[in-house]
Amino acid sequence: MTDKISPSMMCADITSLTKTLDTFEKCGIEYLHIDIMDGHFVPNFTLGTDYCKAIKKICNIPLDIHLMIEKPEEKLSWFQFGEGDIVSVHAESTAHLQKALAQIKKCGAKAFVALNPSTPICVLDYILDDIDGVMIMAVNPGFAGQKMVPSCLEKISYLRSYLDGKGYSNVEIEVDGNVSFENAVKMKKAGANIFVAGTSSVFNKDFSLEDGIALFRQKIGEA
Ligand code: DX5
Ligand code: ZN
Repeated sequence: MTDKISPSMMCADITSLTKTLDTFEKCGIEYLHIDIMDGHFVPNFTLGTDYCKAIKKICNIPLDIHLMIEKPEEKLSWFQFGEGDIVSVHAESTAHLQKALAQIKKCGAKAFVALNPSTPICVLDYILDDIDGVMIMAVNPGFAGQKMVPSCLEKISYLRSYLDGKGYSNVEIEVDGNVSFENAVKMKKAGANIFVAGTSSVFNKDFSLEDGIALFRQKIGEA
């Protein structure tokens, strides 16, 4: 599977957004990670429906919408997404997970299920035909700048062998939270192929976005 970088847009400087998006397009960034939080499922608010619509108007990079909201199946129609986009819903956020995933696929987008650090892989047992990917949270969702929960590395490798063993090697693994340059190498080796790059890597004030992306690609390319 090809490695893909999905910068976490909640970490981007809103005052220079168009410049950031131009840089991402020049660097061949594969997705834009859009964190949507409702203050209930996670104790924070971040980006919203208008932000997604505005980004789609000015940028061709597919969206990677991370819904950290209660009952997402009731709110999917609030968002604009389609062919080429990823929409992730949390297994912990609804009693109707299969319904939410089916709705996402019906809109032509890729349906991903997101798992918090303590959620076991067995929640996937009866939805393997409904998912295009699994997003492993390496932190408890809600805030940037946190430290990776160590058990997530073993969880990624278990997930990769679980999926391959059941004949779902086409299902991708995304990882979100403290995906630093060092952690990205370990996560890649464990089996992840989509990396949410936030304050721990590309959005670091010590170097330019271009340099951060180039270093990220070099690190995961070598892993
Ligand atoms: C956490 C968010 C992540 C986070 C990534 O809830 O989903 O996207 O912003 O940023 P860092 O790299 O700072 O963890
Ligand atoms: Zn996220």
